[in-house]
Amino acid sequence: MNEKLLTMLYAQEWVSGQAASSELNVSRAAVAKHINALREQGYAIEAVPHRGYHLLSAPEQLTGFEITRRLKPGSPWQVACFDEIDSTNAYLRRNGDQLPEFSAVLAESQTAGRGRLERSWHSPQGVGLWMSVLLHPQLPPTQAQLLTLTAAVSIADAIDSFGLPCRIKWPNDILSPERRKLVGVLCEMRADMERVHWLVVGMGINVNNTDFPPELSSIATSLRELNQGQALERAAVAAAVLDALAANYELLNRGRFDLVRDKWHRRAVALNEEAAISGLNGKETGIVRGLDEEGYLLLEQNGTVKRVLAGDMIISH
Ligand code: BTN
Repeated sequence: MNEKLLTMLYAQEWVSGQAASSELNVSRAAVAKHINALREQGYAIEAVPHRGYHLLSAPEQLTGFEITRRLKPGSPWQVACFDEIDSTNAYLRRNGDQLPEFSAVLAESQTAGRGRLERSWHSPQGVGLWMSVLLHPQLPPTQAQLLTLTAAVSIADAIDSFGLPCRIKWPNDILSPERRKLVGVLCEMRADMERVHWLVVGMGINVNNTDFPPELSSIATSLRELNQGQALERAAVAAAVLDALAANYELLNRGRFDLVRDKWHRRAVALNEEAAISGLNGKETGIVRGLDEEGYLLLEQNGTVKRVLAGDMIISH
């Protein structure tokens, strides 16, 4: 009911009590009650006799409605938002067998946000996008890295759409041009030898953070800092990421990882430069030659090119 009323308020400058009551099939008193409920959620709504209700502003709080209304028409995502959760990745892992593909979950804060390599992820209230999505890629687990790379490209596409610059550090960190971390991605999956049952892509996007704990302050930054201190609408950033991910995932499913890879290469940090990679075989150095068609990192060592599936790139700031 509240969502129907909000849809009307977004569609028209003024919504009369009469129009709302006949459209929603409730009394005018019930309309007034729903308007108050929306005000309690943080919507500023003006009421003027003989004109009706006029929406002045929406709350900064993330809601499924505010994200969904910004998605492209025909978008596949089902979006749910929590105020607080342990971890959006953990939530989708617990429910991965029941929920449909394209479920997206966000939380205003995480009490146990997790990063790669068993690190914790700083997830303060109300400033970032702590978001996980559930996908059912038709891939064997040996190709799951294509998804982690696709996720990074999608987030970078979304950041681009706000006119902000960013780079990708292999495999899927998003950095500012000064090489400070803006976004981390954590992919987890349930798979058997033949196929991936589900894959969770967890994204930690520093959107409006203005400060970081001392251990992060020299290595992390936010989109707001890149945007000359101007805050961004988190719901709009979330919708842009989801739209870009749906589009790039479709490319991947049509066998066009080459197009996703081109976009990854255009933003790659340390391409054709010497870098250190810490992977399954310990630390190795070489010249980064980009990704091959299966998403492996190509590392040139003494004229020989080696393929690296997983690991971390160590770069100087
Ligand atoms: C990393 O760079 O180490 C990856 C960080 C991933 C953090 C996100 S926040 C949303 C989702 N839920 C989690 O617990 N982790 C991911």
